Amino acid sequence: MNSTIRKFIFRDLQTVEGYIDPPDALVFLSLLKAQTERGLNGGIAEIGVYYGRTYFLFRRISGKRGRILAIDLFDIEQAPGGAETQYSRFIDNGRRLGLPIDEDLVIRRDSARVQADEIVGKIGYARFFSIDGGHMLHHVTADSRLAADSLADHGIIAFDDTFNPAWPEVTVGLADFLRQREGTFSAFCMTKYRTYVCRSQFYEFYCNVIKKAPDLLAFEHLETQFLGSKVARLHNPLGRRILYELMVRSGMSVFSERVYR
Ligand SMILES: C[S@@+](CC[C@H](N)C(=O)[O-])C[C@H]1O[C@@H](n2cnc3c(N)ncnc32)[C@H](O)[C@@H]1O
Repeated sequence: MNSTIRKFIFRDLQTVEGYIDPPDALVFLSLLKAQTERGLNGGIAEIGVYYGRTYFLFRRISGKRGRILAIDLFDIEQAPGGAETQYSRFIDNGRRLGLPIDEDLVIRRDSARVQADEIVGKIGYARFFSIDGGHMLHHVTADSRLAADSLADHGIIAFDDTFNPAWPEVTVGLADFLRQREGTFSAFCMTKYRTYVCRSQFYEFYCNVIKKAPDLLAFEHLETQFLGSKVARLHNPLGRRILYELMVRSGMSVFSERVYR
C-alpha cells in the first residue's frame, strides 16, 4: 500500500501542475497514516486547489471513503475565449488519474465567504486542513480562523508558503495565529515550504510521528524554536534535491522515488 502511494507521489502527481513536492507529500502521507492508525478520524479540507495536485494526493491517501473538500475561486482562465478553465482542468485531471471528483464536495467561492458550519456539514470536523489560497495577510487571517473553527481536536493545519520571501504576509498571518492562540495551538514541523500546526494537547503525539515516520528518515531532522514550541525542521540536502531534479528532467521520474528512501 505504502509503495503504491509512493509511486503515485513520485510519478502520477508530477503530471498535475501545482505546488506540492515530494518532501511535503511525504509529510502529509506520514501524518495522515498516523491518524488513521490511531483512529483519529475526520474529513480533509483544502483552500487553494489550483489544478488539484495536493487535492489528488489527499484523495489517493484517504481512499474511497475519504471526504475531501476543495475550496477555490476556480477563476483562472487558461485560454482567451475561456475554452479551457482552471475548473475543467481540475475535473479532467481527476478523470485521468482515476480519482473522479465529487462536485458536492467542491466550493467555488472566495474562502472568506465560507463558514465553518458549511465545511463541517460536508465533511465533519477536519483532521487535516491545508491553507494555500490567497497569500495576503487578510486571506491567511480569515483562512486560519476558518480552519481552526472547523478542525477536529486532533486536526492539523498545514500553512503553505511560510517563510517564503515572495509571500511575506503568509508568515505574518501564521505568527499572528500562533500568538493569538498561544497555549492552544503549537507549530510542530517545518519544511522548506510549509509549517504544520496542531492543538497543543496533540503536540507530543505529532512530534513523535514526525520523528519516527519511516517515510521521513531520508531527511535531516533539525530542531528550531518558534513562538513557544520546539519545531522539527526537516532539511532536504541540496545534493538530493539536485539529483532528484536531474532524474525528473531526464525522464526518470519512476526511479526518483529511490532518492528519497
Ligand atoms: C498556489 S495555488 C494552490 C496550489 C495547490 N494547493 C496545489 O496543490 O497545487 C493558489 C490557489 O488559491 C486560489 N485562491 C486565491 N485566492 C483565493 C480565495 N480568496 N479564495 C479561494 N481560493 C483562492 C487560486 O485560485 C489558486 O488556485
